[in-house]
Amino acid sequence: MNPVLAELHDKARAVLDPVHYDFFAGGVGDEVVLAENEAAFRRRALLPRVLRGIEVRQDFPVLISPTAFHKLAHPDGELATARAAGTTTLVSSMASTVPIAEVVAAASGPVWFQLYVQPDPAVTEALVRRAERAGCAALVVTADSPVFGRHRRDLAHGFHDLPAGLAAENMRDLTGPGLRTIEMSPAVSWGHLDRLREMTALPLWVKGILHPADAVLAVEHGVAGIVVSNHGGRQLDLVPAALDALPAVADAVAGRVPVVLDGGVRGGGDIAVALALGASAVGIGRPVLWGLAADGEQGVRRVLDVLHDEFLHVLTLCGGELSRDVVVARC
Ligand code: FNR
Repeated sequence: MNPVLAELHDKARAVLDPVHYDFFAGGVGDEVVLAENEAAFRRRALLPRVLRGIEVRQDFPVLISPTAFHKLAHPDGELATARAAGTTTLVSSMASTVPIAEVVAAASGPVWFQLYVQPDPAVTEALVRRAERAGCAALVVTADSPVFGRHRRDLAHGFHDLPAGLAAENMRDLTGPGLRTIEMSPAVSWGHLDRLREMTALPLWVKGILHPADAVLAVEHGVAGIVVSNHGGRQLDLVPAALDALPAVADAVAGRVPVVLDGGVRGGGDIAVALALGASAVGIGRPVLWGLAADGEQGVRRVLDVLHDEFLHVLTLCGGELSRDVVVARC
């Protein structure tokens, strides 16, 4: 792990209520996948090309992945994250503790809205309209959550609700006065995705794809992009590391839409490995939360800056261009 990210993690753990730290840090089941997401990067090595004479000029291929409840990390919550994002795309969680309109207003770069399709179509449509009115540039439908993941740390703490004064603000007054809770539904299908495409002109991404056949279906259903993700090890503790699922998905998609990888990215070298294995960009979840908890807006900015700097450094050392042959197994 990049040492700055490690330092921010340690500071976050020291300042956070242990119950909230565990909510952010934890995964599902035995947390096998949580550990595997990071371990999968350590199983790879980079085989650099040399003497290519390429000076690296490359956009920062990173998005901020959607994570819930930023006010548990810092009183400014998603406002701090949005201010820190700069030109980096912020995928704002439907479960944010700041309403999406305020998140977009605080950001200077693109904000995408992450959506869990709700069992009541009127609620889903109201959320989409909120995202459109706020000025979001895309919708990201999370597909890996037909039910809530069972997080042992949260169950052990009895943590299942936000403290008084905090709420999932995007759910406020949706069909009547008051708050609705976010629901997960196993009834959500590709048909819902089709209806969303008819409902809105926003580009539609799907997040939480692991099987190459689902990647093909997503392309056939007209998505603008795919996020290969196991939800940061928070849904099913039997799946592969996100990185291990990436190459087959990238092959199946064959460049028709961009493929983003999230899960376990903890340094600039990890970004390079993911790009070499077929990702157009990576998403980062927990490191942003650690930066936010440790030092608010400044902390999130540090996370992004250090990843950017390290990525460019690694890319230069790899000869400026990445392709699958520069990644080998670490024996
Ligand atoms: C998440 N993630 C997530 N995903 C999503 O689509 N909607 C959400 O509301 C949340 N909420 C959430 C909360 C917390 C605390 C975590 C850690 C994660 C999953 C997230 O978008 C992403 O897939 C992972 O966090 C990526 O893994 P890393 O970078 O945390 O290893």
